[in-house]
Amino acid sequence: MQDKIQSIIDRFDAPFFFYNLDHLKAKLEDMKQGLDPDIKLWYACKANPMSAVIKVLRNLGFGLDVASSGELHQVLNTGVQGSKILATGPGKSKEYLEHLIKNGVQTIVLESPNQAVWLNEVAEKLDKKIDCLLRLQLSWSEGKSVLGGDEITPFGVDTETWDTVDFKSLAHLNIRGFHCFQWGNMLEVSKLEKIWEVTINTALEFAKKHSLKSEVLDLGGGLGIPYDFETPPIDFTEVKAVLHKLKEKYKLQEIWMELGRFVIGDSGRYYCKVVDIKKSRGKNLIVTDGGINHIARVALVNQAFPIKQFASDKEHDQAFQIHGPLCTALDKLGEFPLPADIKIGDWLEFHGAGAYGFTESMPYFLCHMLPGEVVYYNGDLMIPRPPKTSYDWMI
Ligand SMILES: Cc1ncc(COP(=O)(O)O)c(C=O)c1O
Repeated sequence: MQDKIQSIIDRFDAPFFFYNLDHLKAKLEDMKQGLDPDIKLWYACKANPMSAVIKVLRNLGFGLDVASSGELHQVLNTGVQGSKILATGPGKSKEYLEHLIKNGVQTIVLESPNQAVWLNEVAEKLDKKIDCLLRLQLSWSEGKSVLGGDEITPFGVDTETWDTVDFKSLAHLNIRGFHCFQWGNMLEVSKLEKIWEVTINTALEFAKKHSLKSEVLDLGGGLGIPYDFETPPIDFTEVKAVLHKLKEKYKLQEIWMELGRFVIGDSGRYYCKVVDIKKSRGKNLIVTDGGINHIARVALVNQAFPIKQFASDKEHDQAFQIHGPLCTALDKLGEFPLPADIKIGDWLEFHGAGAYGFTESMPYFLCHMLPGEVVYYNGDLMIPRPPKTSYDWMI
């Protein structure tokens, strides 16, 4: 693989993301192995909506979770049928809900009483009955998270607010169950189990109170990947065992999850070049030709991607503070040990960069190069997006 990466560096000499889809496929096959057919896995394409990634998931029978009109069209353009699409997200207007129905989307997750009323009105106009789930927001003290955790967020509403809805008046909605997802990037399966148990109890209680169905409980995403070289990754057989256990314990018909980070995160890497090395106030500093303009997540959640020198078998034993090229102190990519003799022109390899990378960035700020996207699949290296200049897009 190293020679393939080197060939990209030699050809373009500009930052790029690399996705190993053979790794992704093997991982997905492993996840599906022995999975109860009533535990349904979707892919939350916000993590990485590249068509080549979507195709691998589609071909292995995963449904797709979309959270915008853009994601919907990206998924439809990649050949996914509406019947294999789930729509989540707090920003659904009445027009967008109509658009989802017209494109045959299978299930719509309702995140507010307004969405419920609007969807019912649109379904009535189109003379349809639409499958949907109610998104619940728990006020439970499991701490903070990228998804908000126990903060008040726009993701769903609490049971007290859902209590105010007259469900009997929503005759064109087939409310099949509930959705709840607040804690992202979790690495402890036992913690997830605790959250899922509270979720299931809350949903079942609410269903009983309002005589609603609870055929489907969608637990969202939230399975993390380690952002260091030491922590072991989640063993998905443990997740399967917990989900099976909960399904039996609460006599649930279907459990759904829509996973992003866990699916694609560890299949991707990001590469950029060292453009300067210096020392200031006792620190060794490296400046690269790509930073949070390409990989903004570092600054957004204050968590670095683990970095190594590309193609180096030398001891990584000297601490460096690594910065991207932007004129903001926010463009700090972390502090990592690297070989002491690392030099200008060497390349850095960021691990775990397959999820929340390319599309969660701000590529135009400072008008540096836009990163390429490179795919490895079935032994072939493909370059669907070569690196481009940002001034090509400026007006
Ligand atoms: C509704 C919903 N489902 C699933 C996901 C994917 O989460 P993760 O990447 O933690 O699996 C997200 C991420 O924001 C989300 O908002």
